[in-house]
Amino acid sequence: MSLAPTMPSEALRMLRFDRVQRSAHWSNALLFGVLMATAIPLYFGSFFGVVLARHVVAEIHLWTGLALPIPIIISLLGSWGVQMRRDVRRINLWTREEMRWMKTLGETPLVADKFNPGQKLNSIFTAASIVIMLATGSMLQWFRFFPVPWRQGATFVHDAFAFAIFLVVIGHIVMALTHRDSLRSIFTGWVSEGWAARHAGAWLKEEQAKAGRTE
Ligand code: HEM
Repeated sequence: MSLAPTMPSEALRMLRFDRVQRSAHWSNALLFGVLMATAIPLYFGSFFGVVLARHVVAEIHLWTGLALPIPIIISLLGSWGVQMRRDVRRINLWTREEMRWMKTLGETPLVADKFNPGQKLNSIFTAASIVIMLATGSMLQWFRFFPVPWRQGATFVHDAFAFAIFLVVIGHIVMALTHRDSLRSIFTGWVSEGWAARHAGAWLKEEQAKAGRTE
């Protein structure tokens, strides 16, 4: 008996993101969108009064910021978070081939997992940003409790990460708009087996083995 997987089909679908993951993604995107939109006038003070007064913008920014970790935390808890937790474990696992693929900027061959190294890096950056922006943002808000050098450091890190977040989010949106099947999967949850064979061969093999679809 050979262990080769059966031919991938364009008609057969695979669930890439369940409802919990899709809700967490879009809630997170909305919160990031509001934070980025309010960050612009907070940084370039001259925009104040154009749409909203400064204190209103700062208040929206603060409360949205404090809410930022909530969708991810909820999506990781309880029985509904099984697939999210499984995907977090995948994202934290880096094979030697993936490291090499990353170092050569995609020039070395790779049979990708459910997420390729670029997608894994994007998720890790997003998670780190949430923690760092929450910590530094809280220091900006409750500054009385921190010595001056800490506040200066927090302002610098908050601004530097804000800049990096703008770059990464723009890159993420460009990638999404130019990879229509991936984009569809974060709306509907599904990809075809054909797509998985082209972009996530290791995941396809794993799912076919689970379903007993080896020849
Ligand atoms: C996508 C994430 C975020 C971005 C891009 C962002 C960006 C910014 C920027 C550019 C500023 C202006 C800083 C300056 O004047 O030098 C700012 C201020 C601030 N941010 Fe954020 N931030 C984010 C998340 C957060 C979070 C999670 C919190 C949570 C506590 C937060 C709280 C604050 C506070 C309190 C201020 C000071 C507002 C004021 O001047 O009254 N931010 N943020």
